[in-house]
Amino acid sequence: MNRTFPRLLLLAGLCALLLPAWLIAAEPGMMPAKGMMPANKGMMSTGGMGMMMPAADGQALMDYINKTDPYTKWDLMPGTAKMRVGKEPHGGLQNVYVNKLALKAIKDKAGAMPDGAIIVKEVFSTDKKPMAVNVMYKKKGFNPEAGDYFWLKYGPDMKIAVQGKFDPCIKCHATAKANDYVVLAPLK
Ligand code: HEC
Repeated sequence: MNRTFPRLLLLAGLCALLLPAWLIAAEPGMMPAKGMMPANKGMMSTGGMGMMMPAADGQALMDYINKTDPYTKWDLMPGTAKMRVGKEPHGGLQNVYVNKLALKAIKDKAGAMPDGAIIVKEVFSTDKKPMAVNVMYKKKGFNPEAGDYFWLKYGPDMKIAVQGKFDPCIKCHATAKANDYVVLAPLK
């Protein structure tokens, strides 16, 4: 009898065994995340990597940060505390959240925010009533003249007040242009 036949059989058996393992390992969401901070354990693909990021559109961005990857579960911006006292014009009390990509850029002193980075700032009145949510969303190619940010502001009623290339947001944040328009955390 032909000796290659049992060998082929063995090979096929091995493949059948290894294929599912390989498929699991090839799925990015299933990969053990290397170098993750302890605080991030168990939340592997939130905040950009391996995830579909929203279009440069107010409603899409609002859905993303409230439903797809809820910002209330993100880290606070390094160096800020919950209900920090803000400066004008945002004022009031603030919670500033960063998604994974933004957090990494701050920790790595990356110099600039990467495509997909999102910073969300909740603003409350001094008696803690929700007033507004302000968002900066880095979208490559959206507005290269001004750091490629999509700007968004909406109220507690989820109505959009401002979106896109909004001059007043850009003009004031341009005072932090050397820090990629980010006021609160050094990127260098
Ligand atoms: C007149 C200046 C000014 C204008 C206009 C302004 N901002 Fe800001 N922004 C600030 C300052 C100052 C901070 C730092 C936090 C604080 O004290 O409020 C800040 C912080 C932020 C942050 C947190 C990230 C960071 O840069 O530190 C976001 C997000 C943000 N602003 C969004 C917006 C949006 C959206 C608009 C337009 C609707 C806007 N800002 C208009 C001055 C401004």
